[in-house]
Amino acid sequence: MISAELRAITVEDIQLLRYWRNLDHVRSQMIDGDLIRKENQEKWFNDLDKNNTKYFIYSFNKKDVGNVNISKIDYKKKTFEAGIFCGDVTFLDHWINIWACIKIYDYSFNELKLQKSYATIKNENLGALRLNKSLGYIFNKKIKDNLQYLTLDKEDYLKASGKIKKYLIDFVKIKV
Ligand SMILES: CC(C)(COP(=O)(O)OP(=O)(O)OC[C@H]1O[C@@H](n2cnc3c(N)ncnc32)[C@H](O)[C@@H]1OP(=O)(O)O)[C@@H](O)C(=O)NCCC(=O)NCCS
Repeated sequence: MISAELRAITVEDIQLLRYWRNLDHVRSQMIDGDLIRKENQEKWFNDLDKNNTKYFIYSFNKKDVGNVNISKIDYKKKTFEAGIFCGDVTFLDHWINIWACIKIYDYSFNELKLQKSYATIKNENLGALRLNKSLGYIFNKKIKDNLQYLTLDKEDYLKASGKIKKYLIDFVKIKV
């Protein structure tokens, strides 16, 4: 039987996250594309404000595949930013990536009761733009020549995610 899981990261995961984040297919799509050093990763984790930043690792059949995260959570304005990277290249184009998105947005909108998500994506990152569009994101305006600025309202997410959940439940036969 197939399994998909999401777990909050601990200090034991941070070097795996760094390894993934430094891989070319991930780093090239990040707005800050610098290579991350081991000690910087430790500092990043220690300095994290765990109340408004949450990092998760998603796995397929117990194998760690990638990271989804939410940051800049503003509980007053009910807004957040979301991010994802699939670390294991053999899982690019796999449903586990959209499954992980559904888990993090359901958590953000339904459990944390947030209302709006923001994302900033490079123009050339067609995969991420397509994925975010299918989640219900609206493309707002360009903030810089090579960046797209996207917004996702809870209502639009609820509409868009219904179809994706149906696909995951009916075809993939995985719980969401
Ligand atoms: C962004 C990233 C996680 C997207 O993962 P991906 O696997 O390339 O995403 P896809 O859009 O191909 O979706 C994966 C699979 O989910 C399923 N899926 C995606 N959208 C779907 C939808 N609307 N309905 C049903 N299934 C869907 C499909 O099975 C799809 O595989 P397919 O493309 O062969 O049909 C990945 O490309 C990545 O890690 N890139 C580098 C980092 C990055 O760019 N992060 C985002 C920065 S903002």
